[in-house]
Amino acid sequence: MGITLVDENAISHLIENFRDDLNVELVQKFGVVSVCFILSYFLIKHIWSSAKMEKEPIRVLVTGAAGQIGYALVPLIARGQMLGPDQPVILHLLDIELAYEALNGVKMELIDAAFPLLKDVLATTDAMEACEGVNIAIMLAGFPRKEGMERIDVMSKNVLVVANPANTNALILKEFAPSIPEKNITCLTMLDHNRALSQIAEKLDVHVTDVKNVIIWGNHSSTLFPDISHATVSTSTDADKPVRELVADDHWFNKEFITTVQQRGAAIIKARKLSSAMSAASAACDHIRNWGTWVSMGVYSDGSYGVQRGLIYSFPVTCENGEWSIVQGLKIDEFSRTKMDATEKELIEEKELAYSCLY
Ligand code: LMR
Repeated sequence: MGITLVDENAISHLIENFRDDLNVELVQKFGVVSVCFILSYFLIKHIWSSAKMEKEPIRVLVTGAAGQIGYALVPLIARGQMLGPDQPVILHLLDIELAYEALNGVKMELIDAAFPLLKDVLATTDAMEACEGVNIAIMLAGFPRKEGMERIDVMSKNVLVVANPANTNALILKEFAPSIPEKNITCLTMLDHNRALSQIAEKLDVHVTDVKNVIIWGNHSSTLFPDISHATVSTSTDADKPVRELVADDHWFNKEFITTVQQRGAAIIKARKLSSAMSAASAACDHIRNWGTWVSMGVYSDGSYGVQRGLIYSFPVTCENGEWSIVQGLKIDEFSRTKMDATEKELIEEKELAYSCLY
């Protein structure tokens, strides 16, 4: 066994070194933690301020804005019903000279309502001024044709045509405003879609949001075909049951239901002595807003389901990233085929009539 000689100086030197190392390590760790803390603080601050940062306003043109639908629609847009509760908007309101005073009244009311999302309102009778820089155009009234209409290309990433005959008006717009991509021109059949949903919900005593996959085929007119072949109802107790099975009354579907949806516009005119406005305005918001489910939309036909190419025909569509696509691969029975062909025939005739008026 050997004897170990302990040098006191060496030990204290060792302890000193150990302390120094420990201090350096502690300082280093503290430094790293502090840097992480500061970085996290700035990161959280940045995320928080970007979340709170206001989006750029979207410019929405409404033509015929002094009319009944316009009066019902503009407050919905200003409230965020169309583009979302955090999307600021600038409204461009256009109407004819005769309606200018009324249009100014609508502008005054919009200002008085102090909508937080409404950043500005332009009320004008000048189509060029109204179109300048707009992102979405909702045509409640047709444009009066004016010299220099090709300036339409400075506007409109998306155009929704509501004015009747909606499909053929949209078709004419598509053919005569080639600078707007045809995919960006659509017409409103969401009004008929909502009517069909409501009729079914009433019949089955379920909520309207429980009914899905109804389709409006064709023209926004009395030949439109409200198709329930693919429609389902899911309630809290039952998941996805076919509507046809639940109603179990084909006679009701093939007669009463179809006629009610087809004639609803006329029934409202008869009752109100005025055309539908509130429901049309609400449907226009539903059309622009993506609800993540099947909707019906008048879009140009790419030949899907044998519909003549180029016609603006109402199809079932899904929307993703602001783009619609026609739902493909649905089985079409003989009854549906006949109805789809009849409404297509009407659209072909309307197109011919429209062209004969233009030339
Ligand atoms: C509607 O469907 O309520 C409107 O298009 C008015 C009409 O002519 O039916």
